[in-house]
Amino acid sequence: MTAVGIDAIEIWSGNLKLDLPETFASVKGEDPDKYRKGLGLEASSFPDVYEDIVTMGANASKRLMERKGLEPDDIGRIDVATESAFDHSKPVSTYIAGCLEQVFEDDFRHANKGERKFACVSGTQAVDDAYNWIRAGRNRDRAALVVATDTALYERGDPGEATQGAGAVAMLIDEDPDVLGLSDEQGFGSMDETDFLKPNQQFPSVDGKRSVQVYLSRMREALEDYESVAGRVYEEDFAYAPFHTPFPGMVRKAGLLAYRHITRNTDIEDQLAEEIGRQPREEEYDSHDEYEEAIREYMDALKGTERYRSWYADVIEPTLTISSQVGNWYTGSVHIARASALMTAADEDRNFEGESLLVASYGSGAQAEIHAETIQSGWKEEIEAIDIDQQLENRYDLTFEEYEQIHNVHDLDKDVEVDAFTQPEGEFAFTGWGRMNERK
Ligand code: CAA
Repeated sequence: MTAVGIDAIEIWSGNLKLDLPETFASVKGEDPDKYRKGLGLEASSFPDVYEDIVTMGANASKRLMERKGLEPDDIGRIDVATESAFDHSKPVSTYIAGCLEQVFEDDFRHANKGERKFACVSGTQAVDDAYNWIRAGRNRDRAALVVATDTALYERGDPGEATQGAGAVAMLIDEDPDVLGLSDEQGFGSMDETDFLKPNQQFPSVDGKRSVQVYLSRMREALEDYESVAGRVYEEDFAYAPFHTPFPGMVRKAGLLAYRHITRNTDIEDQLAEEIGRQPREEEYDSHDEYEEAIREYMDALKGTERYRSWYADVIEPTLTISSQVGNWYTGSVHIARASALMTAADEDRNFEGESLLVASYGSGAQAEIHAETIQSGWKEEIEAIDIDQQLENRYDLTFEEYEQIHNVHDLDKDVEVDAFTQPEGEFAFTGWGRMNERK
């Protein structure tokens, strides 16, 4: 069967940067290492005055279409995933299509447009929808454009403030893709939760510590569910494991959980037993609490082993490079984790066509999804075309006072005007409601 998957990726970062260990930590009176080492973050991306989820998504899409030589007629579906939507009726994809129509001098009348919502996992859900649409044969030889775009802003003073970010990832989903083929098998862990929500409000209400536990529980369930359809996952099966990355410190916890899971009842567990003992089995304990405590102790010991550290350095660490510089992009987060890994592989001139990635997405509220992806022959050329390093380098570095100003600009409850810190160049810029014009 012909592969269906990701044919091209483009990334668009907000044009502003807030340095976390220096600028943010010093005003908050906190140790820079809380950000560098604890959360694993160097900086956040922010949208300038003229940027929003539409302009960032449209800019990423425009670049993708131009690079692939696509016209609107080549695209039969535009889905946007976001948890920062400003319109409760019209999907953000219609705004993005409107921007693109200005440039491509043709329309997307024929294209089915929609908006997906389930917190950060909805970017992957939109990719799934496109995959299913193509597999069902409803695409009439057209590809799908999936855009994950968010301004992940928290209320000032909220613990989540340190994990803000803004940016968009555009992905072309097609048959016979150049970059990655998606697996038919998927695993889910899903449960009604209230750890992070936005009921008719711009900024999230978050129970941060609980959200970390919910993420880990749903991920474990999704991994077990994935194995129930795809078979056991072993250490050697995957070149990289991109996970949803609200901040890299979260992925350190998820990576440890995944490694314990994939090494249980294997030779690796046997080898590690000499150093740290065997993994606790629930039947060996009088109560669930005792078992949980034993697991915690095992995980602490596992974290310190050379075997785990080496796996983490090879399989997880390369997924975190963009995230550590941009913060949380919500729906785009797992997709920049995947891109980070592939960019590392390209830098290392790695030849890994046919190898696999284990991709784990998560959305608060809460749902985790896990599937595999197989590297296709054109991956390197596509990945080398992404210029995110240059974009991050070019961001305007905000002082704390400027950060407060730009946060106020994007706070819908505040009516403030601030001059832009950068000038849009050859990109879509927000110039007022109903007028999303391109500027040269
Ligand atoms: N040196 C080294 N490490 C330090 C340190 C220092 N000086 N100071 C603190 N740290 C470490 C802490 O030990 C902690 O690490 P561990 O979790 O491994 O113990 C880490 O830095 C963070 O410190 P705190 O727990 O004290 O940080 P906090 O309470 O200020 O906030 C948070 C952490 C609750 C996650 C907060 O950032 C938050 O609310 N974030 C938003 C919610 C979120 O991202 N949740 C993730 C799961 S939900 C999800 O993924 C969906 C989504 O996108 C939101």
